[in-house]
Amino acid sequence: MPGPESQADLSPESIDSLASAALAAFAGAGSSAELKEARLAHSGDRSPLALANRAIGTLPGPQRKEAGQLLGSARARVATALTAREVEINTEELVSRLVAERIDVTLPVELTPEGAQHPITALIEKLSDIFTAMGWQIAEGPEVEAEWLNFDALNIGADHPARTTSDTLFVEPLENHLVLRTHTSPVQARSMLTRDLPIYIVCPGKVYRADEFDATHVPVFHQIEGLCIDKGISLAHLKGTLDHLAKTMFGEGIETRMRPHYFPFTEPSAEVDLKCFVCHGESVGNPDAPCRTCKSQGWIEWGGCGVVNPRVLTACGIDPEIYSGFAFGMGIERTLMFRNNAADMRDMVEGDVRFSRSLKGMAR
Ligand code: PHE
Repeated sequence: MPGPESQADLSPESIDSLASAALAAFAGAGSSAELKEARLAHSGDRSPLALANRAIGTLPGPQRKEAGQLLGSARARVATALTAREVEINTEELVSRLVAERIDVTLPVELTPEGAQHPITALIEKLSDIFTAMGWQIAEGPEVEAEWLNFDALNIGADHPARTTSDTLFVEPLENHLVLRTHTSPVQARSMLTRDLPIYIVCPGKVYRADEFDATHVPVFHQIEGLCIDKGISLAHLKGTLDHLAKTMFGEGIETRMRPHYFPFTEPSAEVDLKCFVCHGESVGNPDAPCRTCKSQGWIEWGGCGVVNPRVLTACGIDPEIYSGFAFGMGIERTLMFRNNAADMRDMVEGDVRFSRSLKGMAR
């Protein structure tokens, strides 16, 4: 059976018209997609020119030579035209893409200023994470607090100097006996009165004192309170907890010490100090190399702590014969000062975003 090749018309006119059709199609293609179509139709494997080429072998000798030459030059013209048109179309398309995608880098941009979490908030989150990682819970209490919970329940007697108006901000009318809490310790009393035993809580929050407003005092600041009540709790557990806290906050190398002190709600009580991480104690008795951070004391006071006074346990309905516990409290602003070299507490309340930005990410 004759193949398609045998039917191909290999006359010079026919070859010429195939070539002309191809050239016209290439010239008419306006995009690379259209040119691709034209290429497949006119110079692809199944195009009339390709089929004609395959049919040459069926011609008798002399005709085969002539048709072969004609066809060869026709296909060469078609191929050259195709390449030329490809270059043209690619260039046109590139130019129009460059125009369409042009960016004017001189246009003014609207800068959205980037904020930052307040360093005190960041530190509160970090502190809370340290304790929740040990299974402790976060407790909260009101900032306007019952005078009884802020003082009496904590064994702070009616005549204690801290109760006077020079330290404590009372809320009018006075007969309601409300104060702006002066420490986070009333949350200890609240937790003992309402929670099931054992208790492992920390309470970060705002406290208020009738204090000056200067580089190291602000009348509103933050503390974090810790309270643990369980069977068999001793001072050793307190020391271990504080050491863990100090190491997580200040790095493995930090040293702590407990210095005897007095708080009405803990017995024994101590202040917890950090070994000065600037001079490492070397400024002590060395007037040639004074240390501003620890005032050449070698140690920096960090917070208060102690074993919960049995009188407090009793006031909160817990049997001190069965349960014991420890508590601690430290200033968060102070912690930020030591930890991140924030020299002036006023920066922490003034709300200038540049301060927050300067300590961005510091609590990680
Ligand atoms: N509440 C004490 C203060 O504000 C700190 C403290 C907390 C002391 C818990 C002992 C136990 O100074």
